[in-house]
Amino acid sequence: MKIAPSILSADFAALGEAVARVEAGGADQLHVDVMDGRFVPNLTIGPPVIESIRKRTRLSLDVHLMIVEPERYIETFVRAGADLLTVHVEACPHLHRTLHQIKEAGAKAGVALNPSTPPQVIEWVLDELDLILVMSVNPGFGGQSFIQASYAKVRQVRSLVGRRPIEVSVDGGVNRDKAGPLARAGATILVAGSAIYGAQDPAQAVKDLRSAAEASSQP
Ligand code: DX5
Ligand code: ZN
Repeated sequence: MKIAPSILSADFAALGEAVARVEAGGADQLHVDVMDGRFVPNLTIGPPVIESIRKRTRLSLDVHLMIVEPERYIETFVRAGADLLTVHVEACPHLHRTLHQIKEAGAKAGVALNPSTPPQVIEWVLDELDLILVMSVNPGFGGQSFIQASYAKVRQVRSLVGRRPIEVSVDGGVNRDKAGPLARAGATILVAGSAIYGAQDPAQAVKDLRSAAEASSQP
């Protein structure tokens, strides 16, 4: 199981330190939430902040674009240092083209599914994908409650993926209680914001999340 701390719940005035803490705790990658106030009702950060983070960490940057018309900014985000760009299927009328654009820009490509979006919509782009992000909250804010139906959604995504080398990532309301069941449902990456940055010791929170996932994924 890979752990991807979401910096959305970190102190933005001390981002360098926030990143260093989870890196010390063994985080596998960093999840960066970009919001535009249009696709979601909130605003966060953009390419300049990603460029600054890039200089401070060796972790790969998994950039979650919660924006309309993501195709307008793909090259900019890749130049800023994104290793993987995830676009929302609901924001991409030409998803196949957008995924190719991400690959051509030199990044890995992911697609996110809102809680109400059925996994079948990505059936015909599976071969273009490096990651599927199952949203277990409605995107826009950290600290929301996990939607229980997401377990079944993850199982459905898992069976759709089959043997393809695609990561199945889960984002929203993920904490230690959810880690085991999500591992068993077939998740390979857990994104967590408040469960990590809301903890006293974010480095320890990364370790705890991983051990919760690994302990209960044993038969
Ligand atoms: C929600 C974001 C998430 C968020 C998760 O729109 O995509 O990545 O940071 O935060 P928690 O773990 O607090 O739900
Ligand atoms: Zn996210």
